[in-house]
Amino acid sequence: MTIHIGAAPDQIAQTVLMPGDPYRARWAAETFLEGAELVNEVRGMLGFTGTWRGHRVTIQGSGMGMPSLSIYANELMTNYDAQTLIRIGSCGGMQPHVGIRDVIIAMTATTITSPSSGILREMNYAPCANWGLLKAAVAAAETKGTKTHVGGIYSSDVFYAERPDLDEQMVRHGILAVEMEAAELYTLAARHGRRALAVLTVSDHLQTGEALPADQRERSFGDMVEIALEAAFSEG
Ligand code: HPA
Repeated sequence: MTIHIGAAPDQIAQTVLMPGDPYRARWAAETFLEGAELVNEVRGMLGFTGTWRGHRVTIQGSGMGMPSLSIYANELMTNYDAQTLIRIGSCGGMQPHVGIRDVIIAMTATTITSPSSGILREMNYAPCANWGLLKAAVAAAETKGTKTHVGGIYSSDVFYAERPDLDEQMVRHGILAVEMEAAELYTLAARHGRRALAVLTVSDHLQTGEALPADQRERSFGDMVEIALEAAFSEG
């Protein structure tokens, strides 16, 4: 048990999928895992452990934003034995060729501030994905035929941003999408020698104002969960 995770040490698998939304953790566990058991409900941040094709997997909510994810990812890495951590979540599209429902596999995640800024200080650190996971996720997405983009994303501290000039620079510099967690996950994984990746589904588009209707979310999000699971276990 940790301050924020009530599971016993052996109740958390070495592979952890991390959606922001605890209810999405429950949905993914019920939909994709066999024998899923609730292993955490501290503060309602649900976590489940079960198996996928015989492999043990935990699906643990991270909450929204880097400070919240940082709490769970830190505890999973230092108090449990999480070796592979894959964020699954939604993002806002930034480029004209990125469409609603497309999957984004984040090679790198740019940020202005994160919980790690305090220790990185003047360093313009480039948080990046684990190469083996990234390669395997791209292969899984290609096999599925999911429309996928691989490249840089932006991890924001605010959902309601008020910097149109920053959005403009992001678009100009090829940022595919914006979300709020990946940069800190990648930075923590680097610090602790773990593997991390973010596989995201475009739920809305910042340029066009389009948004995925609620009733279509589950099917679209299913591809992302399967890509994450296949990536986690593809290289042994
Ligand atoms: N901004 C930040 N995070 C997001 C967005 C967004 O527009 N859409 C989904 N996650």
